[in-house]
Amino acid sequence: MDLYEYQARQMFKEHGVPVLDYRLASTPDEAREGARELLEGGATLLVVKAQVKTGGRGKAGGVKLAHTAEEAREKAREILGLDIKGHVVTRVMIASGADIAAEYYFSILLDRSNRRHLAMCSREGGMDIETLAKERPEALARVPLDPLVGIDADVARRIVNEAGFDPAVGDAIAPVLQTLWEVYRDEDATLVEVNPLVLSPDGSIWAVDGKVTLDDNARFRHPDHAGLVDVAAQDPREAAAKEAGLNYVRLEGEVGVIGNGAGLVMSTLDVVAMAGEEFGGLKPANFLDIGGGASAEVMARGLEIILGDDQVRSVFVNVFGGITACDQVARGIIGALDALGETATKPLVVRLDGNRVEEGRAILTEARHPLVHMEETMDGAARRAAQLAAQAPSK
Ligand SMILES: Nc1ncnc2c1ncn2[C@@H]1O[C@H](COP(=O)(O)OP(=O)(O)O)[C@@H](O)[C@H]1O
Ligand SMILES: [Mg+2]
Repeated sequence: MDLYEYQARQMFKEHGVPVLDYRLASTPDEAREGARELLEGGATLLVVKAQVKTGGRGKAGGVKLAHTAEEAREKAREILGLDIKGHVVTRVMIASGADIAAEYYFSILLDRSNRRHLAMCSREGGMDIETLAKERPEALARVPLDPLVGIDADVARRIVNEAGFDPAVGDAIAPVLQTLWEVYRDEDATLVEVNPLVLSPDGSIWAVDGKVTLDDNARFRHPDHAGLVDVAAQDPREAAAKEAGLNYVRLEGEVGVIGNGAGLVMSTLDVVAMAGEEFGGLKPANFLDIGGGASAEVMARGLEIILGDDQVRSVFVNVFGGITACDQVARGIIGALDALGETATKPLVVRLDGNRVEEGRAILTEARHPLVHMEETMDGAARRAAQLAAQAPSK
């Protein structure tokens, strides 16, 4: 899960990373109010910043300076509603402005290919770091981190040395890097990025931007992270699937897909996309892996989510019986259709193979459910599902 900048800033603050005060606003009037509070608290410069989960906001006109509450209101009015790389701005952060002498770059990320964490640091921050990494890689220090050590005082010193900081600036930055490591470690993040990390003329250091990605697999350790989920922006089907413990991703197509095992489902998406070309470019509507030991209830829950999706016109159930035998799956399908009753109206193409396939097929044959079509091969079933989707009335 990616955090909004204001959430990252809050998290930084809780861990002791130096950040400036902020207010959140979803209307220009709220922005003026927030600005007034910050000015009363001693701020002399304000920044109005779009809260969207994408970088490059500054370039896109999503970060603007203001000196008065009225000006902040005006800037908020300009920024709210902006479309930044497909993200429409619904909220802005009003922050105290930093007095900037220099902008640096710092990040910690999970470097999967090297099975390490990696710290990256540069004296040239603020700008597009990808461009810097490509055009002048020598200006970006990369320091692999031992997961058991992380960034202690020694490692922090090595990072600032490799990035080429003056000793005085290095001394000021090093403890901030250590604290950012604590954020990364304690919150189970896979990315903590500060661009820019700002040096003020008085020598103080400030994290002016913040990008944090949390590891969802560690969510069980962080009940408090639940509050960070952006419920409004979440796809309701994905939320329901998550609740049911299903591995579901909504896509843009017309053919619903259910399978067992991520690999099988991925290849099912491919064959559906291929088969769909013949019918005017029909595509898979979702990824849904009901897992290895899937029960009838899990099948029912999955079907319910997919059949309730307006964009879906047919469903392809592709199951290779293993731990879950085909007869259980077949019972799950029939049970689910019975439970859904008249609300189920879309054709289901079922391809079963593997453990107890004969029994599974026999159950489906006997049930004679009008919506169920059986196919023996994966390609045949994909083609049939695409064909049925093409014939279905579109909504
Ligand atoms: N609180 C602040 N005080 C002063 N300048 C700021 C502040 N926040 C951002 N800026 C300026 O705006 C630039 C872009 O803001 P940033 O938060 O990095 O957004 P993005 O990375 O999405 O463009 C920064 O590099 C900095 O120069
Ligand atoms: Mg930035």
